[in-house]
Amino acid sequence: MKRLRLGVLVSGRGTNLQAILDAIARGELDAEVALVICNHKEAYAITRAERAGVPVGVLIQKEYASRQEHQRAIADSLEKAKVDLVVCAGWDRIFTHEFVERFLGRIINIHPALLPSFAGGLHAVRSALEYGVKVTGCTVHFITHDLDSGPIILQEAVPVLPDDTEETLAERIRVEEHRLLVEAIRLYGSQHLQIEGRKVRIG
Ligand code: GRF
Repeated sequence: MKRLRLGVLVSGRGTNLQAILDAIARGELDAEVALVICNHKEAYAITRAERAGVPVGVLIQKEYASRQEHQRAIADSLEKAKVDLVVCAGWDRIFTHEFVERFLGRIINIHPALLPSFAGGLHAVRSALEYGVKVTGCTVHFITHDLDSGPIILQEAVPVLPDDTEETLAERIRVEEHRLLVEAIRLYGSQHLQIEGRKVRIG
C-alpha cells in the first residue's frame, strides 16, 4: 500500500500536528506530512513544522480578496502537494461549500467534545464545563457540509473532575486527542474506514 500523504491544517499551538509528526518519526504511522498550512503568522505550529523539516505554507485570510479566494488558495496548495488526506488539527475556520466539495471523503477533523454535544464554535471545552457534564471527550470525524456533523470515526471519553478549569480539562482532552487522531489516520491509511450514510464502519 502506498504511503499516505497528509495535508495538515493548523491555527494554533500545533500539539496535534506534533503528535502526528512524532508517530511518523517513531515508525508508528506509515504516512508523510506533505504540507502543513497555517492561517496565523504567530502560531507555534509553524515552528513545529519547520523543526520537523516539512513544507509549511502560511496563508492569511486577510491577504486575500475574500474567504472564498483564501480557501481556494489553500485547496490549490493541498492538491498541488498531492495529499491523500486533509487533517484539520486545530483549524479555526469554517470551510466554504467549494472547499468541502473538493475534499469530501478525505478530510477529517478533531473536535474537543463528544459530538453531537458541544458542536459548532471554538469553545467546546468551556461549554461542556459550563453545562456541568460529568463526562466529555473528543471526536475525530469526517468533515461534510454541515458543521461538526460529519460521520464519526473515533471518540474517547474524558471525565470532568470537580476542580477542573477550562485549561486543566482541555489539557487532559488533548492527551486523548493526540492518540485518537493518529489512530484515525492509521485506520484511514489502512483503508479500514467505510462511510455508510452517516456512519463509519471500521473493519
Ligand atoms: C484541539 O483541542 C482541537 O480539538 C481543537 O483545537 C485544539 C488544537 O490544539 N480544534 P493544538 O493546536 O493541536 O495544540
